[in-house]
Amino acid sequence: MKFEEVPGWFMPIDQAAFDWILAHQAETEPAGALVELGVYFGKSAIAIDSHRRADEVLTVCDLFEDIATSDAAAPGEARFFAAQGQSQAEFERHFLAFRRDLPRIVRAPSTQITRHVAPATARFVHLDAGHTQDLVRADLASARAMLRPGGVVALEAYRKPSDLGIAAALWEAILNDGLRPIANTDFKLYATWGDPAPMQGAIRRRAAAAGWCHVAGTSQVGGTPVLYLSRKG
Ligand SMILES: C[S@@+](CC[C@H](N)C(=O)[O-])C[C@H]1O[C@@H](n2cnc3c(N)ncnc32)[C@H](O)[C@@H]1O
Repeated sequence: MKFEEVPGWFMPIDQAAFDWILAHQAETEPAGALVELGVYFGKSAIAIDSHRRADEVLTVCDLFEDIATSDAAAPGEARFFAAQGQSQAEFERHFLAFRRDLPRIVRAPSTQITRHVAPATARFVHLDAGHTQDLVRADLASARAMLRPGGVVALEAYRKPSDLGIAAALWEAILNDGLRPIANTDFKLYATWGDPAPMQGAIRRRAAAAGWCHVAGTSQVGGTPVLYLSRKG
């Protein structure tokens, strides 16, 4: 199986952003927890795990096939994902096509993740589970609790027209809770409750070296620059 054949919505520009952030952390920071909420068939989890060091644990959380009957998921999302044929077995099959060992799997609503990951231990948390304002608000609160100082949260679909609850929860966190954007693509936003500047420097250097993508622009949010990453051309 080729990585491109794993079902999902993990775009090349975000594959690159994950690589840059996770590789920079691995080169410059001590070991830390890796966490993903919402795995589907495992595409982004495989990418995160490829940066896991021997002394690190990747913990993933999903409802898998239980989403069909769980009242923790948004009804529209439950119907959609139940119809996709997703299951824990399918996640594990795809994951093991690329990685030797499974991650730690939490088969539960994403709100339960803080029972499984110790506070202030994570270097990277990817939020890609429920897409309503309430669910994303709760997942952002969990991310804040799990992340260590300077840790990075990646948030999916932060500007998707049909999922504006994600944007609402994101801007609540930025305006009321001190979340500071680092960079954004058309699909995901990368942020921290620490200082975004060191990771922005690393992203600029790695984007320049990549060749096919670049920092295409810079927004100012709360007086801090935010790097817009995209393909060239
Ligand atoms: C968009 S998919 C994840 C895609 C995956 N990260 C990738 O890039 O391939 C969303 C996943 O979140 C899960 N999910 C939705 N709501 C959830 C909830 N409240 N708790 C846990 N998982 C949930 C779904 O079962 C689905 O697998």
